[in-house]
Amino acid sequence: MIKAIIVEQGEDRAVSASVQEIEESRLPDDGDVDIAVEYSNINYKDGLCLNGLGGLVRSYPHVPGIDFAGEVTASRDPNFKPGDKVIMGGQRGGEVRWGGYATMASEQSQRLVHLPDGMTTRESQMLGTAGFTAMQAIMRLEANGMTPEGGEVLVTGAGGGVGSIATVLLARRGYAVAAMTGRAEIADYLTGLGAARIVDRAEMADDPGKVMESAVWGGCIDCVGGQILGRAIKQMKNGAGIASLGNTAGATMNASIIPFLLRGVSVYGIDSVTVPLPQRAEIWTALAAEMPKDVLAGMCSEIGLGEVIEHGRQILDGKVRGRIIVDVNR
Ligand SMILES: NC(=O)c1ccc[n+]([C@@H]2O[C@H](COP(=O)([O-])OP(=O)(O)OC[C@H]3O[C@@H](n4cnc5c(N)ncnc54)[C@H](OP(=O)(O)O)[C@@H]3O)[C@@H](O)[C@H]2O)c1
Repeated sequence: MIKAIIVEQGEDRAVSASVQEIEESRLPDDGDVDIAVEYSNINYKDGLCLNGLGGLVRSYPHVPGIDFAGEVTASRDPNFKPGDKVIMGGQRGGEVRWGGYATMASEQSQRLVHLPDGMTTRESQMLGTAGFTAMQAIMRLEANGMTPEGGEVLVTGAGGGVGSIATVLLARRGYAVAAMTGRAEIADYLTGLGAARIVDRAEMADDPGKVMESAVWGGCIDCVGGQILGRAIKQMKNGAGIASLGNTAGATMNASIIPFLLRGVSVYGIDSVTVPLPQRAEIWTALAAEMPKDVLAGMCSEIGLGEVIEHGRQILDGKVRGRIIVDVNR
């Protein structure tokens, strides 16, 4: 028997989640690597999947958990052997496939990354998709010319998982980070992570509706989207780029294209789900090298499997600070 969070849909189509003991034989049978899951974590998307929102889960019953890491117990692929530590993230795991909120998982080997040197499975889940996406966004902006000399980098939704880690990583690479948050009470936390200054979300959301504004930002990691992204586009410096990765403020915006034409501003879409395996491994290696472990530990709290359902609601309400890791065996 294994322990798992099972999300079910009733006849009235209402979705409910509970921790259950199930037969291991119920795991998906198309995986070629069996993994004893050690840690998972909670992302905004997990909140959606746990609550049947966003149309992410295609069939029920379902085990959510978009990220997990653990130890291989059996493998039909020579690249993995029992005892190997592996990370699974993205690629619609926990959405269309059963995910990491279980003590065992069965996965397809082409979706798995070996744990990089110098990182534990627990640390990998402190970072999870949030850390992965933060690094992916930074690499994308730098590949397109962003440098610390180019000016302040705006991080929106800085108090969330992606935003907090992006703040740390950018500061470590020498950037001056302007951290936008709607929670004044976490200003000290954000400056502790390396933010040079705090930007009030309400001020940023109060868009005066101009076609362009003073050019302030040398780059932007946008975790919130909506009109805040629309505003940021108008405040970018010449040639600067925005990594658009999230939509907690909404999925639509009223923006001007003039900054694209007169300032050469670019918006890069960031999709962590479909990153090819070699680049996936590269991003994990960079995270292992650059993310300071003490800072990472300071921004994380740990819960057991039984507490995931409640925290899945809280993350949707924007009440979560930093990262929550899940010890699935607790
Ligand atoms: N593209 C990808 O591959 C990818 C990967 C991971 C995550 N994401 C997306 O990125 C976003 C952030 O993910 P996350 O894991 O960091 O989530 P999170 O931990 O819940 O953080 C989201 C942050 O957004 C801010 N926020 C919440 N409601 C808001 C609102 N109404 N208006 C403006 N800001 C608001 C809050 O920051 P403050 O309290 O500091 O204001 C909150 O902490 C989500 O939309 C998620 O789905 C996308």
